[in-house]
Amino acid sequence: MHKPKPLTIENRWDILYIEYPEVYDAFASVPKEPTMIDVMKKHFDLHNQTILDIGSGAGDSSFQLSSISKHVIGLEIEDNMRQLAEQKAKELSITNVSFKKGTALDISLPDYSVDASIAITLPLFIEDEIRTYIREAIRVTKVGGYIINLGIAPFCYGGDLASIILGDSKVTEEDTEGVVDRILRNEFGFSYFDYEAIQTYDSVEHIISTYGFIFGQQAIDYIKQTKRKHITWTYRVHYLIK
Ligand SMILES: C[S@@+](CC[C@H](N)C(=O)[O-])C[C@H]1O[C@@H](n2cnc3c(N)ncnc32)[C@H](O)[C@@H]1O
Repeated sequence: MHKPKPLTIENRWDILYIEYPEVYDAFASVPKEPTMIDVMKKHFDLHNQTILDIGSGAGDSSFQLSSISKHVIGLEIEDNMRQLAEQKAKELSITNVSFKKGTALDISLPDYSVDASIAITLPLFIEDEIRTYIREAIRVTKVGGYIINLGIAPFCYGGDLASIILGDSKVTEEDTEGVVDRILRNEFGFSYFDYEAIQTYDSVEHIISTYGFIFGQQAIDYIKQTKRKHITWTYRVHYLIK
């Protein structure tokens, strides 16, 4: 028997990717201004490159990257997410993207096999796993190629509703995004820049059923009270040339 869908998964991203990939997809598909690809185009030349998209999810990042590159290989650990991405690629007739099952911690590609390795909001926050993923990303990238990690900036989990979502558990010293930032900059010599993007939902119901479903009851209550339909995200882009 199907268990009933809850109103929120209270930040349990592991449950989201396995049981509700379509909700993640609906959340990720809400337009942002600027788009991730606008930012990539402005800062990096990825034209005509073969790109590895690490943690490709339901395919949104791979599809955006495919619009400016030769080929994108999406690497994804969860079958449900990867299958959704494959189905969407067919529906959208995007032919320069392929999806592979696998983990960032042991990338099943040879050394120097892609022009750039990119991860867009890859959820790895354990110190040794971050190091392993970055070593793997560097290993498979050709000399002179980019390794790019785009994630939420420190203290910005959930965008500008961070303080509502985190409430009393607000972190003051180093949060999970801060761990990534410290390791990439101090141990691997990455440079970085931050940017803001505004995500606009078409209705209060839509933001509650996607963003609210993921980020929890506190966020849902706040959105209902304020009738807010947008979230401002601050992203940090770490980059390194091999
Ligand atoms: C926040 S989603 C981002 C999806 C996609 N990059 C996008 O921007 O649309 C993160 C994805 O990373 C995947 N993931 C988590 N750990 C991973 C790992 N070790 N290796 C590969 N993928 C992983 C999750 O299953 C999820 O689909």
